[in-house]
Amino acid sequence: MCYSDERAEICGIAYALDSDHWGKGIVTEALKAVAAFLFDCVHYRKIIAGCDSENIGSRRVMEKVGMKQEACLRAQIKRKDGSFGDDLQYGLFEGELIREM
Ligand SMILES: CC(C)(COP(=O)(O)OP(=O)(O)OC[C@H]1O[C@@H](n2cnc3c(N)ncnc32)[C@H](O)[C@@H]1OP(=O)(O)O)[C@@H](O)C(=O)NCCC(=O)NCCS
Repeated sequence: MCYSDERAEICGIAYALDSDHWGKGIVTEALKAVAAFLFDCVHYRKIIAGCDSENIGSRRVMEKVGMKQEACLRAQIKRKDGSFGDDLQYGLFEGELIREM
């Protein structure tokens, strides 16, 4: 969890995995489990996350757990090479979470 607004009952999440383990479905499965915990046990109302629009893996992870794209913050992210990327913002309500692994 990287952000929390207790008043609005919203939390933000972020994730990163060692490159040796990419493409095995690990982050998708982990995000489903974490989101289920945040809804069922901590009782957040909404979960949010964001990524560079060119980060296809991260976008797919969010879409596979049921998150919906809500906004595009143009040229919001400064990349390591000095260029700027769009920040896609996603949100998830409890009923949208795809729980099956
Ligand atoms: C992005 C990241 C979290 C994905 O984790 P992962 O465990 O490899 O993802 P999964 O194996 O669960 O894959 C989920 C989907 O994304 C796709 N995917 C993963 N990496 C991809 C890539 N580099 N390019 C295209 N698709 C990719 C998978 O094919 C899968 O889609 P599919 O089921 O339709 O085939 C991981 O690559 C990572 O940690 N990257 C570095 C840090 C980072 O970018 N964090 C996110 C910051 S917003």
